[in-house]
Parts: sequence; C-alpha cells; structure tokens
Amino acid sequence: MTAINEVADLSYEGEIAILTLNSPPVNALAAPVRDGLSLGVKQAAANPEAKAIVIICLGRTFIAGADITEFGKPPKGASLLDTISTMEDAAIPVIAAIHGTALGGGLEVALACHYRVAVPSAKCGLPEVNLGLLPGAGGTQRLPRAIGPEMALGMVTSGEHIGAAHCLKLGLLDAVVEEGKLREGAVAFARQVIDEKRSLRRLRDIDDKLIAARARPEMFQQFRQVNAKKFRGFQSPESNIRCIEAAVNLPFDEGIKVERKLFMELMSGVQSAAQRYAFFAERAVWKLPDVPDDTPTLPVAKVGVIGAGTMGGGIAMNFLNAGIPVTIVETRQDALTRGLVTIRMNYENTVKRGRLTMPDVEKRMALLKGTLSLDDLADRDLIIEAVFENMELKKEVFGKLDKIAKQGAILATNTSYLNVDEIASATTRPESVIGWHFFSPANVMRLLEVVRGARTSKPVIATSMQMARKIGKVAALVGVCPGFVGNRMLAQRQREAQKLILEGVMPWDVDRVLYHFGFPMGPFQMSDLAGLDIGWSKEKSTSSTIREILCEMDRRGQKTGAGFYDYDADRNAKMSPVVEKIILEFAAKKGITRRAINDAEILERCIYPMINEGAKILEEGKAIRASDIDVVWINGYGWPVYRGGPMFFGDTMGLDKVLAKMRQFESEMGPEFAPSKLLEKLADEGKRFLDMR
Ligand code: 3HC
Ligand code: NAI
Repeated sequence: MTAINEVADLSYEGEIAILTLNSPPVNALAAPVRDGLSLGVKQAAANPEAKAIVIICLGRTFIAGADITEFGKPPKGASLLDTISTMEDAAIPVIAAIHGTALGGGLEVALACHYRVAVPSAKCGLPEVNLGLLPGAGGTQRLPRAIGPEMALGMVTSGEHIGAAHCLKLGLLDAVVEEGKLREGAVAFARQVIDEKRSLRRLRDIDDKLIAARARPEMFQQFRQVNAKKFRGFQSPESNIRCIEAAVNLPFDEGIKVERKLFMELMSGVQSAAQRYAFFAERAVWKLPDVPDDTPTLPVAKVGVIGAGTMGGGIAMNFLNAGIPVTIVETRQDALTRGLVTIRMNYENTVKRGRLTMPDVEKRMALLKGTLSLDDLADRDLIIEAVFENMELKKEVFGKLDKIAKQGAILATNTSYLNVDEIASATTRPESVIGWHFFSPANVMRLLEVVRGARTSKPVIATSMQMARKIGKVAALVGVCPGFVGNRMLAQRQREAQKLILEGVMPWDVDRVLYHFGFPMGPFQMSDLAGLDIGWSKEKSTSSTIREILCEMDRRGQKTGAGFYDYDADRNAKMSPVVEKIILEFAAKKGITRRAINDAEILERCIYPMINEGAKILEEGKAIRASDIDVVWINGYGWPVYRGGPMFFGDTMGLDKVLAKMRQFESEMGPEFAPSKLLEKLADEGKRFLDMR
C-alpha cells in the first residue's frame, strides 16, 4: 500500500488499483481529498500493470460533497473540475464504489468515473440546491446524460437523496453489490469490465437521452409552472433548470461554461450565503456550552402524553413513528376517542398519499394506549403535558404527576408562553421539569424549543436534546421568558401589524409585503387560518380591538367563512370591504389620523423590532447563539431560508441601519422601539450577530 497523501492511499488487488480515501467525518472534497484523487488516479493509470481503478472511501460514507467550509476562501490545491477531468480522461476504467451517501461534488466525482457500483443502503443526490447552489463540477451536464433531463430536473431542484435500487433503474448506477461487501463487489465488477473489454464509458460523450429530449422543449416551461409555488423566491432552482436546458441544447463544453457562470453567480450571492449559514446553524444547535457531549442521559423507552387535543395527538405520533410506545391521557372518554381517531385518520391520510402502508399504521397504533387515568403514567420515562394553556390547570397536573411519576422520569410541558419554573414549583422535583415546545402540527413541524428551567438538571437537558434528534426534530435550547424565543419575537411583529392597519394600511397590504419577503403567508392570513378566537371569549369581549370586533361579528377566520378576509366556498381569500369599513371607523373613533405608509416601512416595522427582540434574548442569555434564533424562525415560522433568519438578515442589512431605524421609530412612535444594548454595542463596534461566537 502506498500513501498518496494524508487522506489517500493506493493498493492493488492483482491488476486492479484501489484508491482509498479517508477524510472523516464525511470525506468532503477539501484540498487534500481532491489532490489525493488526482494524484492517485494519475499514479495508478501510469502503472502499466494496472488495468482498472476502484475509488472507495473509509468511514461512514462515500464523498458527501465539496467541503462547504472552503467556500468563499482562496482556492487551494487541485480544482474539482480538473480532478474530475483527470478521472474521466484516465486511460483505464475508473469505478466508483459507493456506500453511505454520494452527494453533490461526491456524486459528480462518481459521474466522472466510467462506472458506478454501490451497496443497497447507499444513496445518491445533488443537494446543492439546498445550499442555494447548483452542482458546479459538471453534475448538471453529466446527470441528464445518465438518466435523462426530466429525471435530472427533479433531482437537481429537489436535492433528494435517491436509494441505490432506484438509481440502478435510472441508469445512475451500473451495479448494486452485496451489503457490507463493497470492496469485493467493486473489484469483481472491475474484473468483469476488464474481461469483457468494456469501453471507457465517458458520460460527456453520451447524448442519446438528450437527443430524445430535444423534441420536447416545452418540458422546461412546464416544469417551471408546476413547481412555481415551491420555488417562489429562491434563485437556485431556476439556475439549476437553466443548466439542464444547456445540457440538452449545447455541446458538453459549452454546457460546462453555462454551469460555471451560473454557479459563480449563485456562490457570490446572498441567498447561498444564507442557506449555507442555515446548514451549519442547524448543526450548531446540538452543541451546548455547559452540557457537554459526555453528560449522562436517562433511558427513554416509554412515553406518556397528557391531553389528546391538537398538540397532544401530534406529539404522540412523533414517538410512535420512532417505535416508542405512548400512553395518552384525557379527562373524558369522548375527548380521548376523538384524539385517538384523529391520530388514526392522520396516518390513514399518509397512506392515501403513498408515504405509509396500512401495516405501518397498525404497527404504530399498536404502540398507542389511551386512558382516563393519570395513574397509568407511573412507569413512563418521559411525560409530556399538553393540556389547555392555563397556569392553574398545569400546576394541578404537575402536582399530581409528582405523586404518580417514577423517580427520574422527565416531566415536560408543551406550554407556548407560561413560566416553566412556576409549573416546576408545583412539584418536589424541579430538576426533572423542562419545556418541550412543539409547533403545530406537531407531527410535521421540525422545530422543537427545549426550554430549560432555572433548576432543570443537565441529564434532563441532554436527554431531551437526544430524544428530539431521535424523533427527527431540530431542537433549540432556550431559556424561560414569555413566549420563549419564537413567540416572544412573533409578538413584536403582531403588535406592529395591528398598529399598521390602524395607522394607514389594510391587512392585505401587510400580508402582501410579508408574503413577498418570502413568508408562506402574512400575519392576518395566519390569524384567519388559525382562528381569530384563540384566547377570545364572548363574555369578556369589549370591542376594544379589531380582532374582538370581528369575533363578535362571528368573523372568526376561515372556519366561519370570514375573518380579516372574506372567503368563498373553496376558501379563496378576497379583500373585505366590511373589514375595511370596520378598520376606518375604529381608527377614527380612536382619533388616529391615517397616513400613507409605503411597503418599505411595513417591512421595517414588522421585522426590525423582531431583530431587536432577538438581540434582547441574546443579551439575557435566553438563547445560546444568534444562529439558534434563526433556526427557530426558519423551522417554526416559515422564515425564508434564503434570507437566513432574522438575525442573519439583520447582519445582512447592517446593524447600524437597523439601529438607526429603531431610534427613528422610537423618537416618532414610542418606547416599544427602544433599541437593545446589544444592538447598540454591535452597531457601534461595526460588528454582526455572527461575530459573537
Ligand atoms: N462540507 C463540510 N462539512 C460537512 C459537509 C460538507 N459537504 N457535510 C457534512 N459536514 C460536516 C457537518 O457540518 C458535521 O460537522 P460537525 O460534526 O462539526 O457538526 C459533520 O460533517 C457531520 O455531518 P452531519 O451532522 O450532517 O451528519 P449526518 O450523518 O447526519 O449527515 C450527510 C451526513 C448526509 C452527509 C450530511 O452531512 C449532509 O447532507 N451534508 C451536506 C451534503 C451536501 O450538501 N453536499 C453538497 C455540497 S456543495 C457541493 O458539493 C458543490 C459542488 O457541486 C461543487
Ligand atoms: P387543545 O384544546 O386542542 O387540547 C387540549 C386537550 O387537553 C383537550 O383535549 C382537553 O380535553 C385535554 N385536557 C384538559 N385538561 C386535562 C387534564 N387535566 N388531563 C388530561 N387532559 C386534559 O389544545 P392544544 O392546542 O393542543 O394546546 C395544548 C397545549 O399546547 C397548550 O399549552 C398550548 O399553549 C400548547 N401549544 C399549542 C400550539 C397550537 O398551535 N395549538 C402550539 C404549541 C403549543
């Protein structure tokens, strides 16, 4: 065995050269890996004894892509395009042997090989689009030659990871070999290639699938139309589509030029910077400064959920999906039955969409038990309370749990706003109490705010984060304050939205601006969807806000056919003349002189106070890092990932600009705009939230 460099070595099995890469954790294509590949292939190809080269990786995966940490830094070593040309131009067959995931630049390396083999568990994908990029090492030109432009369009714009069996069918792989025997399988395949004197299959020279596609030029426009909603606001899907179009219509080398130009444009843009930041932000959340990785965790084999309403049902489904048995408690049989039926219905709807089978549903439902007695939670390792948002009730439930739950059990509350420490005070074991704030629908939304109380123990925190990961959530550890991170910042936006409609604009103006910013919907559309009557009661209503007036008129949102908007039978929203009149009359009654407010002010009024609140949250130590706040907003509130989250957006705008606006608003409108000390400090020092690490 010969070492090529610190990450690559070359060995031989008879006439077959085996180039092995070992660059943990994911064999990303950093400079040494690129150098190892180029030099290794050159050296093997120059050996007159060698008849084929197998490229294989050690560790958990084949190459998972370019090294994202290198982006934006000065280039070092062999370029990826040159490395890939060296492989493709080799005079003897080069075979990629894939396990784990061949992603991005990793799949591009494999596509430059003459053949590809993989184990059944392997997956291939071009996920660059999720980083605001496109495959920039020939992937957009070689992939459509391998699998046809229609399939390639889907792959590059979704970033989906495709399993080996499907890849084989598509023509992306040439063989699937026995699990656990990749090296032997790849060597046997190489021998077959040599024995059968197969040609060097260079994808760049193969264009039968492209010729067929040239007869269907309309497919690109159709693809754009079908996916318009999904791609809205993102730049990279369109650039990816244009590259596949170039592959179909231009010679290979010209197509590569288009790919390079569009790749460089995306790479230097703010969207990709935001999406790459989000990638690392989602991985940073698990790193807890005062709860090290070796903190002991508690075993969680059985879960209890209290309340089978909107949240309780969804929460239970997360654990059932992970194969963990759940007992769910209600106060009345009808509520329990309704909760259990809803869970089953949700699963059966997933079956209808083809994403689950009926036996899967039965397996999950068999893990679920409903009960009317809290005593049935005595053997549970983790109990999550999701009863009504009422402090007295929650304290009563926790007081009872304290007597019932076994020692060491984690007692979690799904409260949205209430003080976790006060809830914990109803028990004799506050160290076991923690907030698990799920988002609705709890079985779908990826975000979980894990709320540490003043006395929550480190093992309880570590176990909560570990379990969150196990059930597929992205969790941010936050501190106790009203609304925690997400809802606390949301309250700023909601307050300004309500003020804006009295001062001069209409709900649809605010919604339009926030929709164009990239949110899936604006605050008034969101209220109509959720129901205006959350927390409203007829008895206590005094017509003191627009919302109260609308509820009193039974305009309680989409469910009653009217709210801030009017709705037709298909729930299409229309601007409402009735609401317009109510707003104008209400503003007049309050003595507000309405004025023209432009879109820029709407946006600044809604977003800048959120950034300022985020700064206060950091100042108070209620979030560990600015990027955790961004993870909350991207995964829990539909903040457009291509804008990186509110804190990243503040950095992009320039904190001096944000501060200047907050000061201006404070002097014009009042103390709710008072800038946080942290914002002032960072702006004065010319720094960003990102610099705080
Ligand atoms: N570059 C640099 N670091 C990477 C990386 C990459 N491409 N992929 C993963 N890592 C790092 C992660 O940041 C993490 O670091 P940490 O432990 O310090 O937090 C570590 O590797 C392990 O990653 P995960 O925690 O994500 O491990 P998983 O096992 O859950 O997932 C994975 C593995 C599926 C490979 C996942 O990491 C992933 O999706 N990686 C990104 C793949 C990707 O986007 N590739 C395309 C890159 S762009 C490109 O190739 C451009 C080219 O076309 C020119
Ligand atoms: P819900 O009203 O849909 O369900 C609450 C359920 O708890 C009801 O079925 C009720 O019968 C049951 N319940 C009440 N007292 C009980 C008791 N003593 N023992 C057992 N069951 C009892 O309410 P929802 O929306 O599910 O909210 C529950 C909690 O989750 C609240 O704290 C809420 O703030 C929080 N939350 C709600 C979100 C949402 O979007 N709905 C999002 C995140 C958190």
